[in-house]
Amino acid sequence: MTALAEAFEKLPGIGKGVYAPADFEAVRKIVHQSAGIVLVPGKAMLVYSRLAPLVRSTGCGTFAAYVKRIEADDAERRRAICALTTNHTFFFREGHHFDHFSTHVRPGLLKRASSGEPVRIWSAGCSSGEETWSIMMTMLGTDRAAAARLGKLDFLLLATDIADHALATAEAAQYRIDTLEAVPGELRRAWMRERDGQAVVVDDARALVRFKSLNLLGDWPMARPFDVIFCRNVMIYFDQPTKERLVHRFARQIAPGGHLYIGHSERVTGPAAQMLTQVGPTIYRKDAA
Ligand SMILES: C[S@@+](CC[C@H](N)C(=O)[O-])C[C@H]1O[C@@H](n2cnc3c(N)ncnc32)[C@H](O)[C@@H]1O
Repeated sequence: MTALAEAFEKLPGIGKGVYAPADFEAVRKIVHQSAGIVLVPGKAMLVYSRLAPLVRSTGCGTFAAYVKRIEADDAERRRAICALTTNHTFFFREGHHFDHFSTHVRPGLLKRASSGEPVRIWSAGCSSGEETWSIMMTMLGTDRAAAARLGKLDFLLLATDIADHALATAEAAQYRIDTLEAVPGELRRAWMRERDGQAVVVDDARALVRFKSLNLLGDWPMARPFDVIFCRNVMIYFDQPTKERLVHRFARQIAPGGHLYIGHSERVTGPAAQMLTQVGPTIYRKDAA
């Protein structure tokens, strides 16, 4: 029996006429081709539970009919892909990245921005924004005047994700208080306010961030190079050739001397390894031209 057939044997109470191995295979192919995400046979139940509400709400009735729908309908395919993303994230995840950024990168960026040069940071695969706001608070430090100062300079933090629901949360910048444990108290006091029992990022910090829906496998409309790219815990969902292509694109998009931060279980391999030098655990610097 194949791994997929075995996985389906374990699905409790789901009729073969509603959801069959061939439907999972079709969804798996579409998600891989469109977003690079690899769904292993063990994800058969997850695909069922995430897509069943969409199968129902579209009136398709069976997964086979829904597969036909997402093959033909771009907007519905997008909804299905969003529903299949994993958006787990938290503030100051992989704290050593923020220590490194604060000590070794931020001073140079502030200096460059103050002298009128453009400074660009990209939070790629930002999910619901905890990463983005952790970067922003670290960049700003504890001085409440810093956001207004940076706002007058050529500074931008771009935050992108393929999942629109996650992006909407990121942009709303409002979080449950109990999710803020890892946020250093002085940064939280400087950049967050309480509203309706939750913590919300202050407006002058929010003004420095642009949120955009972006599939990392598609075209990137950004013309300028980035000084820093954070792309953490995104490539773990991709296969090896996709990871290598993506990290090579990042390496080309980073300015000489700029930095790339990736997730703790990710590695730089392939052609990008010739362009990037590892300067810390999962931290890379692009060699000067
Ligand atoms: C586990 S979260 C990581 C969030 C954050 N970077 C962190 O490390 O905590 C992975 C994010 O990658 C996004 N993602 C997956 N495939 C993508 C693609 N092809 N293009 C853009 N974003 C993608 C998902 O929507 C999800 O929000």
